[in-house]
Amino acid sequence: MKRLSRPCILAALLVVVSTLPPFCSAIRRDSLTRGSSLSVEDDTDILVSQDESFACGFYKAGSNAYAFSIWFANSANATVAWTANRDQLVNGRGSRITLRRDGRLELTDFDGTLVWSSNTSSGSADRALLLNTGNLVVVDADNTTLWQSFDSPTDTLLPMQPITKSTPLVSASASGLLSSGYYRFYFDTDNVLRLIYDGPDFSSIYWPNPMYNVWVNGRTSYNSTRNGVLDEMGYFYASDQLEFNASDYGHGITRRLTLDYDGNLRLYSLDKRTRTWSVVSWQAVLQPCHVHGTCGRNGLCVYSARVRCTCPPGFEVNDPSDWSKGCKRKHNISCHPHQNRFLRLPFTDFWGFDLNYTSGLSFEECRKICSEDCSCEAFGYRQGLGQCYPKTTLFNGRSSQSTNNTIYMKFPRNVGEHSQYPVIPAAAEELVCNDAKVQPLAGQSELRRKAGGKTKWEYFYGFVMAFFAVEALFIASGWWFIFRREKKPSSTDEGYQAISSQFRRFTYAELKRATRDFKDVVGRGGSGAVYKAALDDERVVAVKKLEDVIEGEEEFNAELNLIGRIYHKNLVRMFGFCSERSHRLLVSEFVENGSLDKALFGGGAAGRLLRWSQRYQIGVGVAKGLAYLHHECLEWVIHCDVKPENILLDQDWGPKIADFGLAKLLNRGGVGSNVSRIRGTRGYIAPEWASSLPINGKVDVYSYGVVLLELVKGERVSNWVADGVEEVGMVLRRTVMMLKAALESGDEAWIGEFVDHRLEGEVNWRQAMVMMEIAFACLEEERNRRPTMDSVVQMLLSCDDEIPAGGRDKKQVIISNGP
Ligand SMILES: *[C@@H]1O[C@H](CO)[C@@H](O)[C@H](O)[C@H]1NC(C)=O
Ligand SMILES: *[C@@H]1O[C@H](CO)[C@@H](O)[C@H](O)[C@H]1NC(C)=O
Ligand SMILES: *[C@@H]1O[C@H](CO)[C@@H](O)[C@H](O)[C@H]1NC(C)=O
Ligand SMILES: *[C@@H]1O[C@H](CO)[C@@H](O)[C@H](O)[C@H]1NC(C)=O
Ligand SMILES: *[C@@H]1O[C@H](CO)[C@@H](O)[C@H](O)[C@H]1NC(C)=O
Ligand SMILES: *[C@@H]1O[C@H](CO)[C@@H](O)[C@H](O)[C@H]1NC(C)=O
Ligand SMILES: *[C@@H]1O[C@H](CO)[C@@H](O)[C@H](O)[C@H]1NC(C)=O
Ligand SMILES: *[C@@H]1O[C@H](CO)[C@@H](O)[C@H](O)[C@H]1NC(C)=O
Repeated sequence: MKRLSRPCILAALLVVVSTLPPFCSAIRRDSLTRGSSLSVEDDTDILVSQDESFACGFYKAGSNAYAFSIWFANSANATVAWTANRDQLVNGRGSRITLRRDGRLELTDFDGTLVWSSNTSSGSADRALLLNTGNLVVVDADNTTLWQSFDSPTDTLLPMQPITKSTPLVSASASGLLSSGYYRFYFDTDNVLRLIYDGPDFSSIYWPNPMYNVWVNGRTSYNSTRNGVLDEMGYFYASDQLEFNASDYGHGITRRLTLDYDGNLRLYSLDKRTRTWSVVSWQAVLQPCHVHGTCGRNGLCVYSARVRCTCPPGFEVNDPSDWSKGCKRKHNISCHPHQNRFLRLPFTDFWGFDLNYTSGLSFEECRKICSEDCSCEAFGYRQGLGQCYPKTTLFNGRSSQSTNNTIYMKFPRNVGEHSQYPVIPAAAEELVCNDAKVQPLAGQSELRRKAGGKTKWEYFYGFVMAFFAVEALFIASGWWFIFRREKKPSSTDEGYQAISSQFRRFTYAELKRATRDFKDVVGRGGSGAVYKAALDDERVVAVKKLEDVIEGEEEFNAELNLIGRIYHKNLVRMFGFCSERSHRLLVSEFVENGSLDKALFGGGAAGRLLRWSQRYQIGVGVAKGLAYLHHECLEWVIHCDVKPENILLDQDWGPKIADFGLAKLLNRGGVGSNVSRIRGTRGYIAPEWASSLPINGKVDVYSYGVVLLELVKGERVSNWVADGVEEVGMVLRRTVMMLKAALESGDEAWIGEFVDHRLEGEVNWRQAMVMMEIAFACLEEERNRRPTMDSVVQMLLSCDDEIPAGGRDKKQVIISNGP
């Protein structure tokens, strides 16, 4: 090795040392002097408060969308406390925040457009300073405040930041980014602090309880100061006598009072150890369905474990991706009293919007009022008191056992909607991804079917329409989505955001280089060949060259953008795609141990046999991945081709499902196409593919059942066919019937016979039994009797962590059928 001379090293050191100070001061500084600016390109170019609790600068809200924000520097996932003009994000290049010589603090976009200004026009402004309280102030040379961010809160109040007459909190929107939503926390004209849903369609106050007057709610309306503040100890006091304490009342805790996008006002405390906002030390609305506006016109909010929206019978959702747009009638009601009837919905209420209110009426009288008034959509009636509430518009619907009201909905007489009510859970459309978040699933043909109805085709077309509507929306927005739309980085989505921003578009040349001109083939499936590749950043990835893909490039891109947003540990992670001329390629994570079919049927690669515990874990993992696709992820996905070839194994033999979302991309018949609509693989396809029924998630449940049996038996289902003459489905059905009978009669010899011999009895028999019972349920011909993937996961986990032992303690498992 060549030795460097001493002067040379010294010189190098000098260079390093001399470059350090400006770098350090860039991190450390807490103020911006007149005439200077922060630029978006350099993410160390931020202001940090002296105690380092807050930072301010350009906050990355999407992959190329930035906001000038103040955030908590000591929370794990930088939580934004304030944003300048959150409805207009700026470009990742060329945007600036400048304290101009005339004293204005100004945010400009890449092209110099003024996006926000502090409007401080006093020429005496000296600097902009970020205080330890999280307040950004513009002060003059005498430290007099000329402007402060505390005067224009967004959705969050910090301790010592007052809420006043002119500074309401406005929630962020549920749909993403930081932009304003429809909920407001404000001083009403009678001096009372309230929460209101102030949407495009209607406005409605929901807190404090609008049924009661000010005093009953413990407030006063005489003090017109209109001021409220949270102190350092966690005590909030307002001029209308609203007061509350944080449950962890005391000094030294970082707190924020945020009007969340679900319309609830919550006081959060930062957990010092995990650096997350795990503690909700106070919240305004205890029952989420009491927040108004969530489910839109005609929509019903219901509880099960979580908050969900659903439509009443005879209604259908307007926009499955946005429940605030509510539901619409499937059949118009007539104005003629004799052509209508009423459907009773117990435990249900639509709050507000009464035509008028009368008490002491008999049910018949009340019914008559609504029946004869064309504008009456439904009425509420309380027995006993004879209270009658005819309603013209149905907003703020909720349905729960604790709701004492009964609603009578008007329907055309000739339409046979039968009630399956009360509308409580199970039937409800999934609305959330986690407890706090109001996030709907798109296009649930399955649920539509349940909504009560008559012709399946109607729902099918509904689904197709919804599908195209969603599609059209994405095409229209095109690339904007890929570059701009990122999820709102709330505390819960942070990981998700990091993932989606890694998803990108590759050029064909780049992939050609990475795969060394498509040399290293690692597999070949129905949808195309897969190559191993090394990207420029040294990541090893799998590149799939798709054959026979849908024509439209935009459609492809839109679809891919959806797939790119899906992330779960049991799904193969997508890194990006390429779409150039006729080339369509997908870039995904490279999964070490190849596909399940090789490991399970191949005698084990490297002579290795999958042990029982690994098989069980694979069964659980695949179920979790599918449950995520079906029930939890942002865009609802049916895999349509679940089979061992599409289940990859990582280095710890954990399963990852591949090729999800491809169903819509490949040319072999879209959702609405009649030509060769069958997808999937012989042996794994559900019987309904052959019928004209619309396809739903239950096709995956069926295929999963086959895979589960294969895991137990260690042999491919198509090999069960003795002479190759019989049809696989027939053999499968016969086997299942036989095993079921054996299981019921307690004939365990049969079961022992079925389980993979190669394991030589190293089997957890209880798990084997449960897996088989689940498989039988999944393989039901009648798909409504198959369980959902969610319940499969539950059932499987019920026998986790068992010590392998010979078939003692054969516990009966209850297979609950899907809804
Ligand atoms: C500054 O003035 C403009 C134009 O009057 C206004 O739109 C904007 O909201 C003001 N900004 C602030 C922070 O008050
Ligand atoms: C303004 O505040 C700074 C500290 O932030 C202090 O150093 C300076 O002396 C103050 N100036 C005046 C005129 O009070
Ligand atoms: C009104 O409320 C403020 C606190 O926000 C309090 O300081 C003031 O004394 C109250 N006025 C009256 C008349 O109670
Ligand atoms: C909040 O806590 C303080 C100190 O424990 C107590 O004095 C005060 O009454 C409490 N206020 C409320 C509204 O509970
Ligand atoms: C209901 O009436 C509206 C206009 O009043 C019409 O546009 C709509 O198509 C009708 N819907 C049905 C299902 O008949
Ligand atoms: C309530 O409205 C109905 C229908 O418009 C009307 O017949 C009835 O008289 C009204 N009752 C009262 C108390 O105004
Ligand atoms: C519901 O009605 C029953 C009987 O009328 C009454 O006892 C109960 O308190 C009511 N519950 C609520 C939450 O209003
Ligand atoms: C915060 O971000 C980390 C990754 O940086 C993630 O693992 C964690 O789940 C996030 N926390 C919350 C509460 O979302």
